[in-house]
Amino acid sequence: MSNENKTIHDFELNLICDFFSTMKRQGPGSPEVTLKALSFIDNLTDKSLIADLGCGTGGQTMVLAEHAPGKITGLDFLPGFVDIFNRNARQAALQDRVKGIVGSMDNLPFQEGELDLIWSEGAIYNIGFERGLNEWRKYLKPGGYIAVSESSWFTDERPAEINDYWMDAYPEIDTIPNQVAKVHGAGYLPVATFVLPENCWTEHYFIPKRAAQEVFLSKYAGNKIAEEFSALQADEEELYGKYKRFYGYTFFIAKRVD
Ligand SMILES: C[S@@+](CC[C@H](N)C(=O)[O-])C[C@H]1O[C@@H](n2cnc3c(N)ncnc32)[C@H](O)[C@@H]1O
Repeated sequence: MSNENKTIHDFELNLICDFFSTMKRQGPGSPEVTLKALSFIDNLTDKSLIADLGCGTGGQTMVLAEHAPGKITGLDFLPGFVDIFNRNARQAALQDRVKGIVGSMDNLPFQEGELDLIWSEGAIYNIGFERGLNEWRKYLKPGGYIAVSESSWFTDERPAEINDYWMDAYPEIDTIPNQVAKVHGAGYLPVATFVLPENCWTEHYFIPKRAAQEVFLSKYAGNKIAEEFSALQADEEELYGKYKRFYGYTFFIAKRVD
């Protein structure tokens, strides 16, 4: 398909994909944090079925696969990410247990009650924390687990600049006690909750993102949409440096009890 036939929307998705596809992960996190979250999950066997929703290129999925038994389906709505995901699975010789598919987290291709574990790092916000928790629960077996990371406020009050930024970007951001109450309210037993350390943002996200940005800007030199998109990425890093006392990412691990 030539560029002229693509809608602006398609083109922007391609830009997003191009920007992030050279990175191991597309959001804050780290292998250590993935393994810490996994350490609270005790129901997995070789027969287990696991879904990683909004898997991106699969940085966290491959870590999971190397440390947990069972079959993992990674699901993402960007085909470019899913291609890289499947290439990464083959390179790690995990292709028999790990498969990426294109799909949307608001219309999951699983049977009710078939999953032992739903994983989703930095992605549930795309459907909304509460909606995702509520809608995804039915796909879990009773006794199955959900492990998701989500942005949280660390304090009840915060400076207007960062408050306004988040109200615009994702107004469902909330404090951790409120989020645990939402986990409980959606029919899960909260099992563990922990805040991601700062290196998940810096070492594992912003630093690789700066390198990705250089490659991206030289590829799209003179493209105004690409330049705007890239500038937004720099804002994200600057705001985090200034306001990291007030927000961050939290991992929530919970169990479907009935
Ligand atoms: C911030 S990235 C996180 C990727 C990966 N989980 C990680 O931690 O590196 C969010 C991901 O959600 C995907 N996504 C956004 N909306 C989606 C939807 N409706 N269904 C499935 N995936 C979606 C994006 O393509 C992207 O890969």
